[in-house]
Amino acid sequence: MKTFDEQYGVYREAVEASFDVFLPQDPSSVLTESMRYSLLAGGKRIRPVLALAWCALCGGDTRAALPAAAAVEMIHTYSLIHDDLPCMDNDTLRRGRPTNHVIYGEAVALLAGSGLYDKAMETVLDFGAEYGLSDSQRLDSLKVLCSASGLEGILTGQVLDIKNSDVAVDRAYLERVNDLKTAAMLSASCVLGAVAAGADAETQARADAYGRAVGQAFQIRDDILDVISTPETLGKTPGKDSVENKTTFVDLLGMEGAQKEVLRLTEKALSLLDGFEKPSFLKELTERMCGREA
Ligand code: IPE
Ligand code: IPE
Ligand code: MG
Ligand code: MG
Ligand code: MG
Repeated sequence: MKTFDEQYGVYREAVEASFDVFLPQDPSSVLTESMRYSLLAGGKRIRPVLALAWCALCGGDTRAALPAAAAVEMIHTYSLIHDDLPCMDNDTLRRGRPTNHVIYGEAVALLAGSGLYDKAMETVLDFGAEYGLSDSQRLDSLKVLCSASGLEGILTGQVLDIKNSDVAVDRAYLERVNDLKTAAMLSASCVLGAVAAGADAETQARADAYGRAVGQAFQIRDDILDVISTPETLGKTPGKDSVENKTTFVDLLGMEGAQKEVLRLTEKALSLLDGFEKPSFLKELTERMCGREA
């Protein structure tokens, strides 16, 4: 029986090794280099780990979830490259390194983001069958990825987030932003794992509900870390939300109130894991996420 850290390491290494298969270096292409610069920069890999862990939770072979797990990390990385652009959050530090546009310029960074999105879809299409997905599982996976990254997810969330500057917003608005820009992708990760395991609709809905709760908690913790962290521990520049005059849960509920909300959402997520045969890895992951320092 592996410890939590050992199991996390196994999942993480499987995903990172898969990037060399799904997105190999092309020595003649600065675009591929730029895509790999951000994709291989590290990061916690929470989304692909959630995909693999949900596949295992549902009794599946985690190999089948690998293309979709890599795809969510590609889409997540693309969203970070675009989020950091001067026209968005204008950040110069990400995952402990200069942001993509600082190294490659804005034009290549923009295209690297688009390239990662494209490669994510292609990975599920081209490698899904080889890794054990049926045609209908591949189609379902693409649908999940499209909606979490598109109008029902990151894109609309980011638009609403940009509008949240120098204006008063209420709790319902923030919950909607956090659901779209962050929880949608965390939920998609869990659902993709369930799909790869061949889980039924009810179990997929449970994965979605779990991911939504964890996702809300995850963004509130991100906003807390933006206030209390240093660039060294965070790997990105803290203090950005207040510079941009963004309202977050920390403003609405105070620091203690915001962390209490993280705990409440964590309890909700944990309760959705009840009834599964082997929930211990995901339970520990859920608990660790709410106290994370990066
Ligand atoms: C950062 O995501 C963006 C948010 C949705 C808060 P992560 O905190 O998962 O960033 P990485 O992938 O570990 O760099
Ligand atoms: C970003 O939210 C969510 C994305 C969809 C990328 P933030 O703007 O708070 O993320 P960080 O703090 O830059 O990672
Ligand atoms: Mg942002
Ligand atoms: Mg940002
Ligand atoms: Mg943030």
